Amino acid sequence: MSGQPAAGQHWQAEGYARHAGFVPALGGDVLALLAPQPGERILDLGCGDGVLTLRLAEAGAQVTGLDADPSMLEAARAKGLAVVQGDAHEPLPGGPYDAVFSNAVLHWMRDAPRVIANVFNALRPGGRFVAEQGGFGNIAAIVTALNAARAERGLPPLSPWDYPSPTTQTRRLEAAGFRVAAMQLIPRPTPLPTGLAGWLETFAAPAMADMAVQDRPAFLTRVAALLPALHDPAEGWIADYVRLRFAAVRP
Ligand code: BEZ
Repeated sequence: MSGQPAAGQHWQAEGYARHAGFVPALGGDVLALLAPQPGERILDLGCGDGVLTLRLAEAGAQVTGLDADPSMLEAARAKGLAVVQGDAHEPLPGGPYDAVFSNAVLHWMRDAPRVIANVFNALRPGGRFVAEQGGFGNIAAIVTALNAARAERGLPPLSPWDYPSPTTQTRRLEAAGFRVAAMQLIPRPTPLPTGLAGWLETFAAPAMADMAVQDRPAFLTRVAALLPALHDPAEGWIADYVRLRFAAVRP
């Protein structure tokens, strides 16, 4: 799923499906928390290639997908979905909605309070905001290895993703006017279908944006060498994912 990309990040729908198809595949719990009803107007914020958006449509919801990336939008349109291009830092189009849903996107946002305010304004009173994103401690080992390898090259540490704790996210939601109905931090070690190399190829571009292209393969080899703790001899590479799953209601 793609939000407004961090510097250096570009999406490519085919590669995303191959290296990160587990992202929508593991979205069942947040879908269950949303419990979409037939006829409900739902915005899927950061719909990506539309795998989960389609499940909302199949549940009978009147769903609109929003994404910033043309390649992802094309893949979602090919599934017959109604999608619009946009950035969640701007007022959200097409409201008021009964619900705004989002999976694995909010950690890409540069200004979370602004995005949360936009979601609030896009909901009808009683409407709900149900989302899952990276939470506190998410991919801590990977981020540490990326920054250690950057430091070896004299580059400053980066933190391109937002991984709030339950307390921080609750405060943000309440500051926007939401009532928080559920908030859970869930460690979820996640096997990587195409290994750490596939994951880094898909997601690590922001950590290499200030690096010469010819230096990047050696950089990624070094990052993998720093992460033996994420490799299991039987199960292969497992990322140290932590999810933050929440539901909030506009009073
Ligand atoms: C995540 O879903 O936690 C994630 C995705 C891309 C980069 C970093 C983390």
